[in-house]
Amino acid sequence: MFAAVQLAPRDPILGLTEAFNADTRTNKVNLGVGVYYDDNGKLPLLAAVREAEKTRLEAAPARGYLPIEGFGAYNQAVQQLLFGKDSPLLAAGRVATFEALGGTGGLKIGADFLKRLAPNAEVWISDPSWENHRALFEGAGFKVNAYPYYDSASHGVNFAGMLAALNAMPSGSIAVLHACCHNPTGVDLSVEQWKQVVQAVRSRGLVAFLDMAYQGFGDGIEEDAAALRLFADSGLPFFVSSSFSKSFSLYGERVGALSIVTLDRDETTRVISQVKRVIRTNYSNPPTHGAAIVAAVLSTPELRKLWEQELAGMRERIRQMRVQLVEKLKARGVKQDFSFVTTQRGMFSYSGLTSAQVDRLREEFGIYAIATGRICLAALNSRNIDPVADAIAKVVAE
Ligand code: LMR
Repeated sequence: MFAAVQLAPRDPILGLTEAFNADTRTNKVNLGVGVYYDDNGKLPLLAAVREAEKTRLEAAPARGYLPIEGFGAYNQAVQQLLFGKDSPLLAAGRVATFEALGGTGGLKIGADFLKRLAPNAEVWISDPSWENHRALFEGAGFKVNAYPYYDSASHGVNFAGMLAALNAMPSGSIAVLHACCHNPTGVDLSVEQWKQVVQAVRSRGLVAFLDMAYQGFGDGIEEDAAALRLFADSGLPFFVSSSFSKSFSLYGERVGALSIVTLDRDETTRVISQVKRVIRTNYSNPPTHGAAIVAAVLSTPELRKLWEQELAGMRERIRQMRVQLVEKLKARGVKQDFSFVTTQRGMFSYSGLTSAQVDRLREEFGIYAIATGRICLAALNSRNIDPVADAIAKVVAE
């Protein structure tokens, strides 16, 4: 039965973590996967999460099934975080939110629903994009194309190219957009540019699918929602996948969501009924723990305040690592200008390292990065930043 099964290649991101885990060197550093580690190199359990977990443990809740669409208090908290508590969209019943298995789960149920809704539409992702976007939408049956995004010469966005591509897409095309902290480049659009994107989506009749996995890691929770708020104000229907993996350091609990903005309450009711069928035939209904914790933190003022402080702390530490890495490379005589690293946002930098240099980093120094040159600054700390700077200086010099 399995004689003809071919060996699949390793996942470009999680496969690298597998290789990292198997590496026996003690000084190894994983700059591959988008995970935040604290200055001790440890995955943090946030104090706000610990408090909410303590309360939940004491209450000892039974473990019944959640509704297909997930935990109601969680879905409501997600909506308020994304759109703002007083958003007219929420008052008008124009948003359908589904608890999902991480941001990836939100993308997947959205993709499966879209395939039923618009079977002939094609999907457009940024060039480059998160490694899993293409595979995920192709897996849902779509043809996936790429629109220009990153300009390696300027380390910025090729916005003219992006806009021209959006304006040339067939009506009904699905445009996947990174709402903030673009993965993998760390380069975001300005608010002015987002306004033009919204305009292109409107005039071409596109379906915008915003992926927001890093809210709070750019400039702040509210600031990072700017693109989403522009879409919300536009009156257009659109999709949002969101995640608490990073912002709550709850990676393994798989806490994300899909939100679909419709034109009115009646559409919302019908959309909910269809997405529920997608979920029911996929994993039936989502898990309880992570969503209960996130909902408790977001709706308890003291815990919310604590979480916001902790998130700001993570954001600030990454920013410091960016600044220090650039300084340390300079101090090691690196001629190449890496100053763009400090203006990029979120966890990542598209460092410009070639795949040969990435191979050398891994093989000679035990430093793991994505083959495209993407590095995760959130894995740097005061102890490993010097050896990492030493190694980068060596591979770029030779
Ligand atoms: C990443 O890009 O490294 C993260 O989003 C983790 C993942 O699932 O790929």
